[in-house]
Amino acid sequence: MDRKWWKEAVIYQVYPRSFKDSDGNGVGDLKGILSELDYIASLGVDAVWINPVYVSPGEDNGYDISDYRAIDPQYGTMEDMQRLIDGLHERKMRIILDMVVNHTSDEREWFQRARQSRDDAHYGWYHWWPAEKGEPPYRCGFFDSEGKAWQYNAATNSWYLHYFSPHQPDLNWGNAELRREIYAMLISWLDKGVDGFRMDAITFISKDASWPEITAATLKQKYCNDWGHYYASGPKLHEYLREMYAAVLEGRDAVIIGESSGVSAEKAPDFVGEDRKELDMIYQFEGIIVGYLPGQFKKVDRDGYRLAEFRDVYTRWDRALDGKGWNTLYLGNHDQPRMVSRWGDDGDEFRGVSAKLLFTFLLTMRGTPSLYNGDELGMTNIRFRRIGEYRDIETRRVFEQIRKKGGATEEFLRDQQLTGRDNGRTPFQWNAGLHAGFTEGEPWIAVNGNYRAINAAAQEVDPESVLAYVRRVVRIRREREVLVYGGYRLIDPEDAEVYAYERWNEAERLLVVLNFSGREQLFRPGGGEVLISNYAGVAWVAGVIRLKPWQAVVIELPAEK
Ligand code: NOJ
Repeated sequence: MDRKWWKEAVIYQVYPRSFKDSDGNGVGDLKGILSELDYIASLGVDAVWINPVYVSPGEDNGYDISDYRAIDPQYGTMEDMQRLIDGLHERKMRIILDMVVNHTSDEREWFQRARQSRDDAHYGWYHWWPAEKGEPPYRCGFFDSEGKAWQYNAATNSWYLHYFSPHQPDLNWGNAELRREIYAMLISWLDKGVDGFRMDAITFISKDASWPEITAATLKQKYCNDWGHYYASGPKLHEYLREMYAAVLEGRDAVIIGESSGVSAEKAPDFVGEDRKELDMIYQFEGIIVGYLPGQFKKVDRDGYRLAEFRDVYTRWDRALDGKGWNTLYLGNHDQPRMVSRWGDDGDEFRGVSAKLLFTFLLTMRGTPSLYNGDELGMTNIRFRRIGEYRDIETRRVFEQIRKKGGATEEFLRDQQLTGRDNGRTPFQWNAGLHAGFTEGEPWIAVNGNYRAINAAAQEVDPESVLAYVRRVVRIRREREVLVYGGYRLIDPEDAEVYAYERWNEAERLLVVLNFSGREQLFRPGGGEVLISNYAGVAWVAGVIRLKPWQAVVIELPAEK
């Protein structure tokens, strides 16, 4: 496999809105990020992915762009962005921008014109269903209060498509002029010095514009009731990705990462195979839906998830891409609850160790890890109780959908305490001061009340903190070639509580042992030396380790001959 900077990188994701506010308006901004570049560098990460900061009405926190070539004033100016690009480069880090080209904001000039008349040149840049053909065939709109993806527009007497909210009309990639415009826009960002893109909802860009009826039967049979899969299987998807790669990426050292809902491990090589020239890596979804109850909206089993299922997903993905393409790893991001609340144990007793175990996993698996800001402190879910506390369009709209149908809104709110996206979007906890040091104004979303105990300042001076551990393990990953390019081999695939695997190459062999439970477990590694442990000691007697709750141990074994 070719060596690439992005295969060796550890990515740190900054959610600008909640990271640091410099001007007291309660919203994080670019100057805030600039003031913390040394903190970011201190983590030892190689690249920073920042969520959208382009001009946007903010319906979906910036995933509804109205101007791709300008910075939203609430986040700063283009000069600030240039300073961010330069500041990261000076510190030997790269910058990856989040780019949303499946849809725009309805306030984007293209759509403003398109919606005036069918004769406008931009009409064809979006998807329409002419009303003279009757009602459009059902499609699911994720952020629509009725769950529908078509919205009627009187001026054109037609319906436009929006997979997300009615304020996020889907672009028509069938239009070559639009595609050229998108490529030119992406190149203009590369010319400013950015090092790549995280392409939002990119697997949804190709649609079957003959709009076949989707009956419940087809859905069940062909698409297993799985909209992500259906939306990601558009007829020209690979053609568009290849064209975009050739137009924008070819011959440059930039990375393109696709957010790839609906793509299975088996299909992944079609997107990231090294000979494909479509995407470099994808963020898959099979990992983060582990433990969800089938056919329900973001509802997790209250008994927790099964390690066997978790291990199976990551092992399958590794195998599917082995020798073919490059994997990614993440357990948290701005669309997910807090990593430690979802995958570990966020109670006082095990929060620290379980967060450290999860970082051990992320940083020792094969694939490029993305660490989400705040997770390095072990920040936890806020668990809002009332709908009014939520800012997220997803939670609010799904709540409305359920309410309109007379469904169980209380139950939905309970589920959202575990899985809602706002859990991951509360302000970064810098210190024990006002609003956790995030802002001097009124924060746009509530600060988690546990900031007095969980904050960066406290962890800076604690050598046993999650933060200190993350720095240490990131450094080890960067020093050990085997942790990047080495093979992955599952050990003991049947163990119900312990996930163990080896990373190996001709010169090195590391055994990773992760106790995914709050109980002691016995594990027999057979020998070797401890390289990493998330507890001060490792109880190792006669070849057997008595693993403490949530203990993670990495052991150096003799290399194979
Ligand atoms: C995925 C983004 O990560 C999410 O935050 C957003 O709501 C949707 N795509 C729509 O753009």
